[in-house]
Amino acid sequence: MYKYTDYLANYGRIMQFNKNKTEPFHRWYPFVEGYSKEFIQSIVKEMGERKIVCLEPFSGSGTTALELQNNGIECFSFEVNPLMYLVARVKLENSYVVESVNEWLEFIVRYRETIETIDLKSDFKTLYQSDDKEKWNYNTEVAKAVQKLYYAIKSIDNEIYCELFTVALASILLDVSNLYRNGKCLSYKKDWKERELTETEVFEKFDQKVRNELVIDIQKHLHYSKINNKRKLFNIDSRIGIDEKIADDSIDLVITSPPYLNSRDYTDTYMLELKTLGFVQNNEDIRHLREQTLRSHVQIKWEDMSSVDNRYLKNTLNDLEIASKETEMWNKSIIDMIRLYFVDMKIIFKTIYKKLKKGGKVYFNVSNSAYFNVLVNTLEICASIAEEEGYFVKEIRKARNLKTSPQQKEAIGSLLEGVIILQK
Ligand SMILES: C[S@@+](CC[C@H](N)C(=O)[O-])C[C@H]1O[C@@H](n2cnc3c(N)ncnc32)[C@H](O)[C@@H]1O
Repeated sequence: MYKYTDYLANYGRIMQFNKNKTEPFHRWYPFVEGYSKEFIQSIVKEMGERKIVCLEPFSGSGTTALELQNNGIECFSFEVNPLMYLVARVKLENSYVVESVNEWLEFIVRYRETIETIDLKSDFKTLYQSDDKEKWNYNTEVAKAVQKLYYAIKSIDNEIYCELFTVALASILLDVSNLYRNGKCLSYKKDWKERELTETEVFEKFDQKVRNELVIDIQKHLHYSKINNKRKLFNIDSRIGIDEKIADDSIDLVITSPPYLNSRDYTDTYMLELKTLGFVQNNEDIRHLREQTLRSHVQIKWEDMSSVDNRYLKNTLNDLEIASKETEMWNKSIIDMIRLYFVDMKIIFKTIYKKLKKGGKVYFNVSNSAYFNVLVNTLEICASIAEEEGYFVKEIRKARNLKTSPQQKEAIGSLLEGVIILQK
């Protein structure tokens, strides 16, 4: 029913963050769930040479706002996760001076040597090592080294550089810890108990990150831009924040990739950084953060009974109800999550519509999902909900065919990731 266009060759390589890992600024924090800057460049090219204002409702590590800033384009963005918000803020800052980075690094090097005792305390049971535990995220020497860096960075009395070095520290935490990111969650590295990383090695990793990436990028690639998208980045739930912060009929272009309907909880994925850097202090803070994120995971039992009155969605939910009775359900909340994910999508489409100028366009990157051997055609359901909100669905661009889980492979095959192009 919708017009599909084949962008597999164009988008195939650029819909993942991997390409950003060697790019100045973008490489400062190894984000997983982003797209590459080339995706943004390709859209800028399509828009042609005209002054436009953009909106990014799910900023993540800030790829959209940064690449638009580098192209002289204004962009408002929203991100609920405080770690991602910080990463994006730091990458968008364009007043760094290389001499100051070096001076503050010297300050950190001196300061960390003066700290003699570190008392490792946390409300999180498995964060630090102790005799009564079977597992812990950091070995004691590593934890102390990380804390020394943390205290030294917190003592920088300049917010811009304090934030810059916090991101440098965030970017090495997983590497020095006993964990690795394993798809949706964090798992323990092989032989983690035998890993003996010294304080000096932790400090070296931090110093190298600063010298080999931050200093080089600032020295070689930082150019002052009149456009400052950092001031337009908000650490708020976009379902509420967009309406509060953005004027109606003011946006020309929306580029975004919301959390996919894959039960991935971003709070979980970045839990180590969130805990270590004090963004969350206890389980109550974690719960609060999860409540503010889009309902694409099952880490919370959602009580909301609302749904979207959409034919495609209703059929899919019916199929899922039937199939779930025949399959061993690994979590009973899955169908609630799917229903509520589209309630959130409707809120987003509705809000964006109000903010777009007439003729304004939306590039919405998302992928299909599958549960209990039933395809959830997220691309078409989203397109259809958007249409009901008043948009014209111009096309769905096929970007990549993603692997599905081994359980779903036979019935479903691969899952299409695409970009829905909408116009007001
Ligand atoms: C797929 S990622 C975006 C990646 C981004 N395009 C990039 O390249 O870095 C989706 C982001 O949406 C954020 N998010 C989830 N729920 C949100 C909400 N209610 N408001 C704002 N951001 C939210 C997540 O924390 C995550 O960083």
